[in-house]
Amino acid sequence: MIEDKAALKKLEDALSENYGWAMHLGTREKITAAVLKKSSRLKVAADQYCLLAASSSSELLSLVEEIAVSETFFFREPQQYDFLRSTVLPELFENFAKRETISRDDRIRMWSAACSTGEEAYSLAIACNQVNPKCNSSNVEVFATDVRNRALLEASRAKYQLPALRRCDAETRETYFENFYNPPEAPLDSRYTVVANARRLVIFRRANLMDGMFWKGVNNRFELILCANVPMYLHPVALRQIIERLSRSLRPGGYLMVAPAETSLIEHPRLKLIKEGEGFFQKQ
Ligand SMILES: C[S@@+](CC[C@H](N)C(=O)[O-])C[C@H]1O[C@@H](n2cnc3c(N)ncnc32)[C@H](O)[C@@H]1O
Repeated sequence: MIEDKAALKKLEDALSENYGWAMHLGTREKITAAVLKKSSRLKVAADQYCLLAASSSSELLSLVEEIAVSETFFFREPQQYDFLRSTVLPELFENFAKRETISRDDRIRMWSAACSTGEEAYSLAIACNQVNPKCNSSNVEVFATDVRNRALLEASRAKYQLPALRRCDAETRETYFENFYNPPEAPLDSRYTVVANARRLVIFRRANLMDGMFWKGVNNRFELILCANVPMYLHPVALRQIIERLSRSLRPGGYLMVAPAETSLIEHPRLKLIKEGEGFFQKQ
């Protein structure tokens, strides 16, 4: 039991301020469960633990590692990847090929912002390879970030179980995953690895989307940003700030993809909705 509601509120406020999270009922329940577990492990009162975590950035992050909604899987919204393959990626490759001067540092830069355990970033890398089998790390970079260290460790290991591949069509599974057996015979805990061609395109880094310093380094940098299944968890002030920063991080003509269910959350004068209800915006 957390008796001191003011202590709990202090912890919730710290999570909102530092990570941008809105306090929904489900989030509150997860916070309470994590506080009870951690305080009993540390043998301190739950109220005391709330105050301690609210004022310690490392303890706050360790709570985030436990509480954050982490669900993700390959090709989560297949119709969005169809649009990426049919329209967005061919245009990015075409524009890149048309550049008059290409320096050694030039790439088509894409970003999976809040990539969790990596499925979204690898799906994008696979889609790039499907559109242009010759693409490699000298012309494409999929930058992938998340706030949770544990998720990033799993992402860089790139070992997945069958349920994470549930939206992959058979051809994609066979071409882009190793150790793949026919689903009926494969035990559920089988591990599948993304092939090196796609893995090589992805770079993982830790970043908190509420960290102003991080954004300074990514102004005008990306041709495509995927920020899906994150806006829905943010409070309005954080959401507005992050949308503004996402917009600034896109190059003119660049694309932003959010989850279809998040389409109506994105309002920005420079981000034009290009597919009704499908989560795609283009920077004007
Ligand atoms: C539901 S997952 C979405 C994963 C993936 N984008 C997708 O759509 O499948 C949400 C992710 O956002 C991350 N996250 C939450 N708050 C964040 C923040 N302030 N900065 C960076 N990542 C954050 C969580 O750690 C989690 O991995």
